[in-house]
Amino acid sequence: MQQILQRASSTARTSRTLIIQQVQRLLSTQLEFTKDRYNIDRGKFGTLDDTHYGYFEDLLGKDRVIRDPEECEAYNVDWVKNVKGMSKCILKPKTTHEVSAILKFCNTHNLAVCPQGGNTGLVGGSVPVFDEIVLSTTLMNQIISVDDISGAVVCQSGCILETLDSHLAKYDLMVPLDLGAKASCNIGGNVSTNAGGLRLLRYGNLHGSVLGLEAVKADGDVVDCLSTLRKDNTGYHLKHMFIGSEGTLGVVTKVALQCPTRPKATNVAFLGTNSFQNVLKTFRKSKHSLSEVLSSFELIDAQSLNVVTKHFGKQCPISQHPFYILIETHGSNATHDEEKLHSFLAETMSDGVVLDGTVSSDPSKIADIWQLRETITAALQHDGYVFKYDFSIPIKTFYSIVEIMRERLGESAVTVCGYGHIGDSNLHLNITLKEYSEEVHGKIEPFVYQYTSQMRGSVSAEHGIGFRKSKYLQYSKSASAIGLMKSLKQMMDPKGILNPYKVLP
Ligand code: FAD
Ligand code: MLT
Ligand code: ZN
Repeated sequence: MQQILQRASSTARTSRTLIIQQVQRLLSTQLEFTKDRYNIDRGKFGTLDDTHYGYFEDLLGKDRVIRDPEECEAYNVDWVKNVKGMSKCILKPKTTHEVSAILKFCNTHNLAVCPQGGNTGLVGGSVPVFDEIVLSTTLMNQIISVDDISGAVVCQSGCILETLDSHLAKYDLMVPLDLGAKASCNIGGNVSTNAGGLRLLRYGNLHGSVLGLEAVKADGDVVDCLSTLRKDNTGYHLKHMFIGSEGTLGVVTKVALQCPTRPKATNVAFLGTNSFQNVLKTFRKSKHSLSEVLSSFELIDAQSLNVVTKHFGKQCPISQHPFYILIETHGSNATHDEEKLHSFLAETMSDGVVLDGTVSSDPSKIADIWQLRETITAALQHDGYVFKYDFSIPIKTFYSIVEIMRERLGESAVTVCGYGHIGDSNLHLNITLKEYSEEVHGKIEPFVYQYTSQMRGSVSAEHGIGFRKSKYLQYSKSASAIGLMKSLKQMMDPKGILNPYKVLP
């Protein structure tokens, strides 16, 4: 790692961004193949030959069949640089018909396929393990319809979250989902991971906002569940089979979302406090005092903020404390919301629960404050190798695992930090090392998963299971539930061509 940084920094005049890109590229070149690091056997799938390439090129045209190894690299390595596949073929369909034809052909020829959206997934689900064909939805980016009265929006699955949200602003609507990867993640990826994000507390789980969807099964069959109705109790709710199943049951091609009205007034408060108990007291009070306008309640511990200031040179807007809280309100009356937030802050400060804080309704200041929270993920990458965890843990014992791991790992970790969506009891425990170490890995896993299970938590609150967590699924799902999951997979994808080595143990 030291060597990599020195090599990257030697280009004296290169801008900071370029250096970061170089480091990322060098790290991905040095990354071991997943199959080697995790000792995985290849499934009994076919191997691509010229006849297969010929079919894909006839269907899509040469420019939408990527074979150049350098170009393929970006589709083989995940965002967090934990896993690396060896696909030699990236397909970029534009229509449901093309997706259907690809899957039908792959199923007939027993070729494995890894569906991919924006490739921002954090559990190694979005990249191949061996030579699976990558089916990228990035060109399926059409917004099909917007009903500005009901709020029903229909789009293709490759729409970028932020692009869709900006489009909806014209109709005073918003996507009921926001996350740090919004500039690259796709709606289809969001639906396939049932992404949570920064405002689930207010706008609910994505399962509840998806009105309908269209998906293509492994055999090429198009399943049309693209209802735009809010209420529709006609038989089994099949759309839920595809929401959160991480590309193992079908490829999502279109999505219908229920989109809420965009708020007229947004405020953000950034607060500091000295104990986790006081974070909890502040959360409880915010629900009572801010009630219907509360749209986000996020935790950042001092160690998390430290990586952002260290690697990105950002300034903390208040004095230093062990814990920081970011509170956001979404409402329709700026004066009313500001009054509420100011009196909430005055009360929590006079009680000594909150020690320092700043409030803003200015869009650029709000964006700066959100950056402190949203860039933690990217900043951690600059420590070296990141072990990421995404637990649902009962709120009262929420932070203990961070302290336990700090004690357990001592000097062997660079950073052990905790941040996340406290409003949803979702903790992101992150542990960084200078470089990957199997020995430290063994000290972390399965311990953290066993601990979470003992606490009656979930090993994945929002990121999913993907490749990295499939053998830990048992800590959150009963044997009978896993058995049923396997039966469903067998029924919908009997040859197992869709995203093999993922989700199911
Ligand atoms: P990909 O990464 O491409 O794929 C994710 C999974 O979905 C893979 O298993 C893939 O095979 C499957 N898939 C993708 N598209 C389809 C499709 N059309 N049909 C079937 N399967 C498909 N996640 C959260 O939940 N909350 C957060 O707050 C959050 N913040 C993040 C912040 C950063 C900086 C980063 C890098 C990631 C964050 N994530 C978060 C994780 C990630 O962004 C989400 O999981 C996101 O939903 C993935 O979307 P994607 O388009 O990038 O999907
Ligand atoms: C977040 O909440 O920032 C995301 O889920 C990404 C992460 O866990 O780092
Ligand atoms: Zn998160």
